[in-house]
Amino acid sequence: MASHLLVTTIAAEFIRGGCVVEIGSSREIERKEKSSTHFFKKTCELLDSMFFSVDISEKSHALAQTIVGNQAVCTDGETFLKNFRHLTRRRISVLYLDNFDVIYNDQHEKDLRSRVGEEYGKWGWELENSKSAEVHLSQMKAAIPLMAQRSVVICDDTMTKNDGWWGKGATVVPYLLAQGWRVHSASDIGVMLTSPRMKHPETPSWFSRRRRYVWGLAGPSLPSFEWPTG
Ligand SMILES: C[S@@+](CC[C@H](N)C(=O)[O-])C[C@H]1O[C@@H](n2cnc3c(N)ncnc32)[C@H](O)[C@@H]1O
Repeated sequence: MASHLLVTTIAAEFIRGGCVVEIGSSREIERKEKSSTHFFKKTCELLDSMFFSVDISEKSHALAQTIVGNQAVCTDGETFLKNFRHLTRRRISVLYLDNFDVIYNDQHEKDLRSRVGEEYGKWGWELENSKSAEVHLSQMKAAIPLMAQRSVVICDDTMTKNDGWWGKGATVVPYLLAQGWRVHSASDIGVMLTSPRMKHPETPSWFSRRRRYVWGLAGPSLPSFEWPTG
C-alpha cells in the first residue's frame, strides 16, 4: 500500500474541516492520477479541508499546480511551515512527509543522482540519507506547534531496520514517540503516527460520534465515506 493511503485507516472525521499538508509533491507525470497529491486533493474536496502541497523543485511544483492550482507552493518544507500561520488559522490534521529522497541501494543512488541530483545541488544539498532524516526532522519540529490536537503524521520511505528506524522518518519517528505520539499503522514503505490526544482513532470518541450524528443530518454520514482511490 502506498504510504499516503494509510490515512484511510483513521476515521475521515478527523480530517473534515481541517488542513492537510504534503511536503513533497508528485513529480512523475505518468503517475499523476495515482500520486499522493491527487489523492489528498480529492480527499480534501470531499471533506471540506484545506490542502497545501509543497515542493522545492520548480518541475514538481509545476505538476502539482496542475492538480491543486495555487495551493501548490514552491519552497522548502521547513520555510513553508514556519510561515504557515500567515496562510491560515487552521491547524494541520494530516502532515505527509515525503520529500528529501533516501537512497535504498547503489543502483537507486545512480538513478536518483541522474534524475534529481541537480535539483538538490541548487540548494547546496548532497543526497545522503542522514541529510534526508535531518531535513524531515527540522520540518517536523516546525510543524509541532501547528498540529491539531487530534492529528496524524505519515512518513513515506520509513521502516524499521536492525531494531531502529530507517529512511526519511529515521529521526522523526523517535522524536514523535518521545513526545507521546504512537505508531498507528505501517505499510511496506511508510508509517503513520497519531498524536497523543488521538487515543482510539479507529473508534470515534463520544464527542466525534455526536458530531457525526449532526453531519449525518446534513450530508453523508462518515461511516459511509468513500475514500478516493489512488
Ligand atoms: C518522492 S517525491 C514526492 C512524491 C509524491 N509525494 C507522491 O507520492 O507522488 C519527493 C519530492 O520532494 C521534493 N523535496 C525534496 N526536498 C524537499 C524539501 N526540503 N522541501 C520540499 N520539497 C522537497 C522533491 O523535489 C520531490 O519532488
